[in-house]
Amino acid sequence: MEYTIKTLLTREEVEGRIKELAKEIEKDYQGKDLLVVGLLKGSVVFMTDLIKEIDLPLEIDFMSASSYSGTESTGIINISKDLDIDVKDREVLIVEDIIDTGLTLSHVRKMLEERGTKSLKICTLLDKPSRRTVEIKGDYTGFEIPDEFVVGYGLDYDQQHRNLPYIGIVVKK
Ligand code: XMP
Ligand code: MG
Repeated sequence: MEYTIKTLLTREEVEGRIKELAKEIEKDYQGKDLLVVGLLKGSVVFMTDLIKEIDLPLEIDFMSASSYSGTESTGIINISKDLDIDVKDREVLIVEDIIDTGLTLSHVRKMLEERGTKSLKICTLLDKPSRRTVEIKGDYTGFEIPDEFVVGYGLDYDQQHRNLPYIGIVVKK
């Protein structure tokens, strides 16, 4: 497919919003033992920028999960890389690139809660609320976006464009 990429959110807009999110998180997690969990690979660029702006002691870990919606609307989840750190009694903040249908995050949330987290919140850079099939919302959301396929800042099209320093819409030619 031939396509071009049209800027949706500039680097300055994204970087500015990440700083705001980090300050909110910093305020909410004062005195708490924060564990930031990134969902691979999409969250990586966002997460590295985010944690540099959070002036608190924290730990990080990563998990790779994908959901497949089968015959049931709930779908199933495949974990190709699990966490190294035990989340029992931990204050966990999941970092995600985008919430689309919400399936992936609702599965990951349920799984981590079953392991006995003390608290569990979600921070997402992008949200496509119009696509939701399960009820889930970010506690910290960067931007709500329309139902367009986007790349950059960790998000890919066929594994490409994760390194773009802005968010762009993939436009078919
Ligand atoms: P669900 O539907 O489970 O999916 O909320 C979230 C995951 O779907 C991917 N996704 C996208 N990736 N551009 C992308 O590069 C997009 O516009 C997009 N929409 C959904 C992404 O991996 C996310 O974690
Ligand atoms: Mg993803």
